[in-house]
Amino acid sequence: KHSRPNHHPYKSGPTPQPNPPSSQGLSTRRELYERDFPVYKQPVEVGCFSLDSKRRFFNDSRQMRYYVEPDRNPNFDLRDGYKYRFIKRDDSVKEKLDHILRWILANRSKLSSRVTTASPCALDVDIVTWRGHLTKLLTSPYETREGWLLAVTRFRGTLYISEVETEAARRDRENRTERHEEMMYWGYKFEQYTCADNAQSVPDPGGVVNTNEAFCTVVQTRLADHRLLFSGEVDCRDKDPNAPAPPACYIELKTSAEICTPKQRSNFHRFKLLKWWAQSFLPGVPRVVAGFRDHEGVVVTVDTFPISKMSHLIKNEHNCWKPTVCMNFCCDFLSFVKRIATEDNPSVVYLFSWEPHRDVTYSVHRDSQYSFLPHWYVEEMTS
Ligand code: A3P
Ligand code: MG
Ligand code: MG
Repeated sequence: KHSRPNHHPYKSGPTPQPNPPSSQGLSTRRELYERDFPVYKQPVEVGCFSLDSKRRFFNDSRQMRYYVEPDRNPNFDLRDGYKYRFIKRDDSVKEKLDHILRWILANRSKLSSRVTTASPCALDVDIVTWRGHLTKLLTSPYETREGWLLAVTRFRGTLYISEVETEAARRDRENRTERHEEMMYWGYKFEQYTCADNAQSVPDPGGVVNTNEAFCTVVQTRLADHRLLFSGEVDCRDKDPNAPAPPACYIELKTSAEICTPKQRSNFHRFKLLKWWAQSFLPGVPRVVAGFRDHEGVVVTVDTFPISKMSHLIKNEHNCWKPTVCMNFCCDFLSFVKRIATEDNPSVVYLFSWEPHRDVTYSVHRDSQYSFLPHWYVEEMTS
């Protein structure tokens, strides 16, 4: 079932580097990606959508929330409401790219398109995916724990990239401890303490936290010669009506354990800031507001981290992450995918898999469990 490629030597970019011997895939070794920062165009918001409390799709911003700056020493209790005021999204349901595909169908006229007799109204983009999948690519050269599986289908010239849950991730999801389950709630509870439903109102910490609800931005940009269209969840926006246009007015909210020792500070810089940077840099969200909490889940301080300052903050750390390595790896991965995923067929999946300390490899699957483009999408795009 898993057909193995024979031999596909990977050629590196402008600065040729020796490849590891008999490389069949793509290396994630950091040294290979330490070259000039690739072109990454300022991301442009081309639309947005909302998912309501029942996870229904709406082609509008009804779930947008507005940031209300808390006190510097807020004492937010993140455990409050976990038992009786929490509706958790069912994360065993895999939505794949469905919401983005719905958005594309609802906004085809907004997306510039090539109109030729061979392919009327094909999308004018190379890659369609979730921002979260790109975040995983950006951080791969520094990831030592979790691998990934990315399913790729070429359809009408566009590559669709959709994640497949790894066996290890499924085991982790099915075996979470009660403590871990509760801690996953804390991040959403922090959002409730700091966000209002409209620019005039205030947060309602007495309400229900429902993680089905989401506001997602859809952005277009270009990484080197890859034209990207992706969507990502946005936590909230600046409530000032004179704030810059999206995505510059958006704010990413995070929680993190309070930093008490130099070792904790170093780990925060080396591991957490990498994830925060990658997630927000991609869609052009300029700042993260972080709530630092103690072990009982009480937020003791709130701090703002501009994305543009993160790479300076980490410069004193030994052996630290570099934005250029992240972006060059992502760029080379997308080139690799373009070269491998050549058959234009909605039921063919090229499955790219990666485990830490290994190269990226792939296998090809026809009409399999991995096919992810729904019939309603394929039919409407073909007619
Ligand atoms: P924190 O990041 O503050 O812990 P996001 O920050 O991306 O908007 O996600 C909101 C919250 O969802 C997170 O808040 C966390 O509580 C939870 N969450 C997101 N991704 C997660 C993951 N991979 N595993 C566990 N929890 C996650
Ligand atoms: Mg979020
Ligand atoms: Mg967040």
